[in-house]
Amino acid sequence: MSDLYLKLVNTPVGKTAAQSLGLPSPNPLKRLKRVDQPFVEGDVLIGAGPGAKAISTLGAILAASPANLHHATGTEILSESAKAGNKAKTFDLSSPVDTKLSALIFDASGLKTPQELRALYDFFHPTIRKLASNGRVLVIGQDPHSCRKAPQAAAQQALEGFVRAVGKEIGKKGSTANLIWIAPNAENQLDSSVRFFLSARSAYVSGQTVRIGKADEAKATNPVAALAGKVALVTGASRGIGASIAETLARDGATVIGLDIPPALEELQKVTGAIKGKAMACDITDEKAPKLIADFIEKETGGVDFVIHNAGITRDKTLGNMPEHFWDMTIAVNLTAEELIDEELAHRGLLKDNGRIVCISSISGIAGNFGQTNYSCAKSGVIGYVEAMAKQLKNGITINAIAPGFIETQMTAAMPFTIREAGRRMNSLSQGGQPVDVAEAIAWYCNPASAGVNGNVVRVCGQSLIGK
Ligand code: NAI
Repeated sequence: MSDLYLKLVNTPVGKTAAQSLGLPSPNPLKRLKRVDQPFVEGDVLIGAGPGAKAISTLGAILAASPANLHHATGTEILSESAKAGNKAKTFDLSSPVDTKLSALIFDASGLKTPQELRALYDFFHPTIRKLASNGRVLVIGQDPHSCRKAPQAAAQQALEGFVRAVGKEIGKKGSTANLIWIAPNAENQLDSSVRFFLSARSAYVSGQTVRIGKADEAKATNPVAALAGKVALVTGASRGIGASIAETLARDGATVIGLDIPPALEELQKVTGAIKGKAMACDITDEKAPKLIADFIEKETGGVDFVIHNAGITRDKTLGNMPEHFWDMTIAVNLTAEELIDEELAHRGLLKDNGRIVCISSISGIAGNFGQTNYSCAKSGVIGYVEAMAKQLKNGITINAIAPGFIETQMTAAMPFTIREAGRRMNSLSQGGQPVDVAEAIAWYCNPASAGVNGNVVRVCGQSLIGK
């Protein structure tokens, strides 16, 4: 659905009017244009606090891009920045910064005390105003759960508040800020996540924290066809976010089995036909659905690498007015079906080693939403399911969730005007997301190099002001 306000406010007259009336002035987001587009370009500044652990890994990842890499100097506390690799040029922060920067990357993984948080100020204070529009802030920390000493856990947890606040300050420029917390010695798992968060693929992801754990050495990705040779099952693929997920995974090389309810078969076939995929008509709440899906996969492809549980419904009513079937259907589609399908696929050995399960939660599942006790309950359950399964899955299989915020689809187009407009604007980027924003995040989870990304719930919400 088109956002007329966003278009209007980016005309010269609209911009002036919005400024004088104090209305939001969202900056149009730059999304991926070509699949072979570099993950970052322009001038990139990298800095590090004391004891930084990921700095040389970051230097090596950045060296694979055409960006001009600079490392920060100027204060004692930033001395670790110099380890960013010999391709990096020195950038003295004690002099005024006059270059526009496309990304600011800071390795805070070695911070051990609240006093050392000063390194954040020393790095970002002179540079943040030089961040280009659609720029990226990325901070690397150590997972606070792995910190044995309280001052270290405090310093590492502090990064989350810092990054979220930065995201709110830079959002009006269409820029984003995110945090990656790595487990000890998991630096070799950073590649796909650093690329994702610096790239146009994460245009609508801001204020997020991702935990990366240890895993087998991540294989280098082919950025143009990272999912080549893989097979994906995508539920609810006939339209909206599901259709975009199917198209994006196919763009990256995967063969897609799209699934949707029988009345949507014609639309589904249009989607799968265009990407040389396969279509399966099935209601996932049907008692026989898990078996029928497993039979289809066994016959057509012999197994799947990715299971993307996207199908979802809303049936809104305040709790006292909610008919029984609204409750039952919403829980069945959004939560129960996912678990039963996974169980059957696992039981029959149809989810391959190093597979990926991705579930779609929602901001409603995090914050709760008026008139959506059923939907919020189901989408919150999805988070519980993902977190529990992440500890149980074996053979390199990961499970993660995406919690979309306001995404422009038929589901949100059906909302009353005022609620729709509030949903669109109440985020740091002051605009709604596109289905492809969710799809790109799923492609990142599915990347073979994302083996250490497990048990996460990442919001694709432009840093919605709702929820935590
Ligand atoms: P949509 O309504 O456009 O598409 C959902 C698809 O799921 C449809 O093709 C529908 O036929 C299919 N589906 C529904 N029940 C099914 C069943 N029993 N069996 C098989 N397929 C079934 O919705 P949209 O907006 O694309 O949402 C996709 C997912 O993202 C859903 O899980 C939704 O809850 C979630 N979400 C969407 C947000 C948004 O702003 N659009 C925000 C937060 C979450």
